[in-house]
Amino acid sequence: MTNGDTTGNAAQPLLASRGLVKAHGRTEALRGASVELRAGEILAVTGASGSGKSTLLHCLAGIVRPDAGSVTYAGRRLEELPEKRLSELRRTDFGVVFQFGQLIPELTALDNVALPLMLAGAGRVEARARAGEWLERFGVRGQEELRPGAMSGGQAQRASLARALVTGPKVVFADEPTGALDSLSAEQVMTALAHTARESGTAVLLVTHDAQVAAYADREVRLRDGAVAPLGVTA
Ligand SMILES: Nc1ncnc2c1ncn2[C@@H]1O[C@H](COP(=O)(O)OP(=O)(O)OP(=O)(O)O)[C@@H](O)[C@H]1O
Ligand SMILES: [Mg+2]
Repeated sequence: MTNGDTTGNAAQPLLASRGLVKAHGRTEALRGASVELRAGEILAVTGASGSGKSTLLHCLAGIVRPDAGSVTYAGRRLEELPEKRLSELRRTDFGVVFQFGQLIPELTALDNVALPLMLAGAGRVEARARAGEWLERFGVRGQEELRPGAMSGGQAQRASLARALVTGPKVVFADEPTGALDSLSAEQVMTALAHTARESGTAVLLVTHDAQVAAYADREVRLRDGAVAPLGVTA
């Protein structure tokens, strides 16, 4: 079985939000967003700039607490978990690729990817070896010892993907993972991401504005003004 058994009920989605509301100051970024992600599914979240995609991703990943609404992961309500349990869950079950990279600037690409393994208890030598394999899978070769400041945007993005996947998470949240890549590189990275996800049964929430990238998903939901637009609405 894949991750489906972690829900305890295969009919339930692995991750679901109901009526999420979140304001940043006076801006209502989310106005009742409800989405469902099934185990092993690749779901594309699309929508215009400012429609709330990143805010939705942050709420679903338990990084931002919504003002109202709920997020349920494998039968657990994230808003009811104490901060310590939530961090632990994020570390063991979730991998996140942020829209603007967010690698640790002081660490090399290799150490950035090795870090989540070391936090999970792996030794440095083993963690670095596995990190190297993941960097290779995402096309980072010969740049393992560079710090993020010396890497191109595309290389940093590939390293961020490797970092999100290295621990074998149940859900990967990827915010515009190909935003800094040309179309050929985007295709290579998406092929690697989709292949890895299918192979391991990892669910992926893929935020993208690129229709070619969204085409790698099983399903697409479109956000409009902070809520899911009805099917057929394209603007
Ligand atoms: N930290 C913040 N402070 C203030 N406003 C914010 C903040 N983050 C997001 N917003 C606002 O909330 C709304 C939704 O932003 P969000 O980043 O979720 O959109 P998005 O769909 O990811 O956009 P993009 O495609 O440009 O990345 C926008 O109007 C944005 O300006
Ligand atoms: Mg965004």
